[in-house]
Amino acid sequence: MAHKIHAAITGVHGWVPEDRLTNKDLEKMVDTNDEWIVSRTGIRERRILKTPGWATSDMCVEAVRGLLEKTGTKPGEIDLLIVATVTPDMVFPDTANTVCDKIGAKNAFGYDISAACSGFLFTLATAAQFIQNETYNKVVVVGADMMSSIIDYTDRNTCVIFGDGAAAVLLEPRRDGNGIIDFVLRGDGAGRELLHMKAGGSLHPATMETVMAREHYAWQDGKRVFVQAVKGMTSTCEEVLRRNKMTTDDVNWVVPHQANMRIITSVAEHLHFPLEKVMINIDKYGNTTAATLPLCLWDYESKLKKGDNIVLTAFGGGFTWGALYLKWAY
Ligand code: UT7
Repeated sequence: MAHKIHAAITGVHGWVPEDRLTNKDLEKMVDTNDEWIVSRTGIRERRILKTPGWATSDMCVEAVRGLLEKTGTKPGEIDLLIVATVTPDMVFPDTANTVCDKIGAKNAFGYDISAACSGFLFTLATAAQFIQNETYNKVVVVGADMMSSIIDYTDRNTCVIFGDGAAAVLLEPRRDGNGIIDFVLRGDGAGRELLHMKAGGSLHPATMETVMAREHYAWQDGKRVFVQAVKGMTSTCEEVLRRNKMTTDDVNWVVPHQANMRIITSVAEHLHFPLEKVMINIDKYGNTTAATLPLCLWDYESKLKKGDNIVLTAFGGGFTWGALYLKWAY
């Protein structure tokens, strides 16, 4: 039977900086300890970008170059490149165009999508439209964040959680039934009160006062975000399964945003997913915001089989959240 066109992930590649920030290192910086961090978050270390002159675009470049090499794609073949990030190199221009320039993607255009921890999910769903509508053949989606550039390393509520990293996927059309099948995306702007970076935008442009008040750092009411994250990821996963007449047993892998191991466990319990079917790498990288989902796919790539049913889910600043169902294409 001929299938309609689906946008399929045909390659994934990630990149994380060499430098590790361990729980032991953090013990020397703020009033915390390894036991608290591991038991409350599941994180053991994070990667921090320290290369002089490097920023989010450089991590994207490393991830995309690896992706192109792996998939045998030339830079000139890319039609569109979208970067999901909340830590762009600059407020403008967008990081995606910088990446296109650095990798020599002369025929591509690019732009960024800002949806915090749901950035990769929202971007994947957006990019898929261009493929399904037969507008483009090769779209690169990158999830990348240099969270260390907006983290207050005197605030133990946030500095133990976040890390830096980037990962990219190539989207191409497939007619064999594999690819992105469905998604449920949600938002609630009231959540901006509970998770944000207060200054640096048009509401509170940078002044001496905003800098002194430490308003150029990510801030969150962790406990309240936690509760909403479990609810949001669980309900959208349930909805996407219901819409596709699937049960937990039909799913080969769940790919959850890596914000806190207790959130991941809680979502898995609510959905009755055994943890063996849940991709987890939070212990190694912490929360890399837009990079968590593709970094998981990259880490687990060798275990995936063509036709596997995979559900990606995320929750983050905005609030933004959702779940996306795809069939692995290779
Ligand atoms: O990716 C974007 C979305 N973000 C999230 O999904 C994050 C969701 N939230 C969380 O992951 C958790 O809320 C945190 C990891 C941020 C905090 O964990 P928690 O279990 O909610 O801790 P809490 O904020 O309720 O604090 C419990 C206690 C407090 O002490 P008291 O008041 O009970 O004496 C905190 O001061 O733990 C203390 N605490 C710490 N202790 C040692 C908070 N942070 C630390 C720390 N080390 N790093």
